[in-house]
Amino acid sequence: MPPLSTLPQSVGVLGLGVSVPERVLTNADLEKMVDTTDEWIISRTGIRERRIIEEGRAPSELGIEASWKALEEAGLSPTDIDTVIYCTFTPDYPMPPSACILQGKMGIPPCLAYDLNAACSGFIFGLQNAYGLVKSGVAKRVLVVGADCNSRFTDYKDRGTCVLFGDGAGAVVVGEVEEGRGILGNCAGTDGTGAFLIHQMSGGAVNPPSADNVEDQYIRMNGREVYKFAVGVFGPAVEQALDKAGLKIEEVDLLVPHQANIRIIESAMQRFGFSPENVVINIGEYGNTSAASIPLGLDTARQQGKLTAGTVCVLVAFGAGLTYGATVLRW
Ligand code: ACO
Repeated sequence: MPPLSTLPQSVGVLGLGVSVPERVLTNADLEKMVDTTDEWIISRTGIRERRIIEEGRAPSELGIEASWKALEEAGLSPTDIDTVIYCTFTPDYPMPPSACILQGKMGIPPCLAYDLNAACSGFIFGLQNAYGLVKSGVAKRVLVVGADCNSRFTDYKDRGTCVLFGDGAGAVVVGEVEEGRGILGNCAGTDGTGAFLIHQMSGGAVNPPSADNVEDQYIRMNGREVYKFAVGVFGPAVEQALDKAGLKIEEVDLLVPHQANIRIIESAMQRFGFSPENVVINIGEYGNTSAASIPLGLDTARQQGKLTAGTVCVLVAFGAGLTYGATVLRW
């Protein structure tokens, strides 16, 4: 362990990259597949279209594309990375871990590389893991990837779920940053009493995949209960992370929320008095991309000019598990 005096004071994001498939699935397309309407989907969720990975492509290909962009932005090469955290609930395979596939293909030297499954909260959990590893001197530069291809486990006969999900990936390099910048406060939690409110009942060791349980591999959800959980946990998660950072809500420039439902985001905006300029909303274009949602939000914010050096932002996510987490950082 390095001496305390050499440990980094401030840890944050050195580079960000994203990748989404080119294929677009619109609400009009879904109207032809299930009993739904563009009007219902937009008014109940805010989603207009979502990206769907092409047949034959592996989710890790998106993760790798995003990672190369993050490295390029950080001005680093694969040999500068000493830890890989690949956040996903839709890995390429149950085994090997997607982190290992990515590490091998990118030529990252042998290192700690692991998958982290916290569904839609995955990226926040990964970011917080990376923060702890760098802050404590265990790692120097961590590649955190959030990549999910929900479409591979979506039942396109189930209108309650198929309208919600999209595919995508994002990645950041986490390392030492200028003092006063970077991650300022974290909060994370799990409520396993709601573990089965979002589930895939086959494909694991309890119900190994078989010809008889194909339907059970799909994502099923008690939408109403998850919605209540999300609205209930959103505010306290933001407040706890701000408390850890020693900041007040008035000092926040930008909210980067998980994009699951526009109504969940609007309820948080109302609670905190945020105006649309201070919130990232890209659910219309991407739908719910699970672990990719937060890095895609950061990328959108940057493109819209909302995220520049010094911007104080709160990243907040929630999802299956039930899990939630928030991170405050100065960009
Ligand atoms: N088109 C038309 N009607 C629909 C559709 C659809 N796509 N989907 C559901 N309906 C119908 C239902 O059948 C129901 O009809 P009924 O009243 O005749 O029974 C009616 O609309 C209302 O259904 P609800 O499920 O109560 O609709 P709700 O307003 O709750 O919206 C939604 C559903 C969008 C899923 C919402 O509950 C939600 O966003 N929940 C949170 C999801 C979430 O945050 N997930 C995050 C985690 S995902 C992860 O971790 C992988």
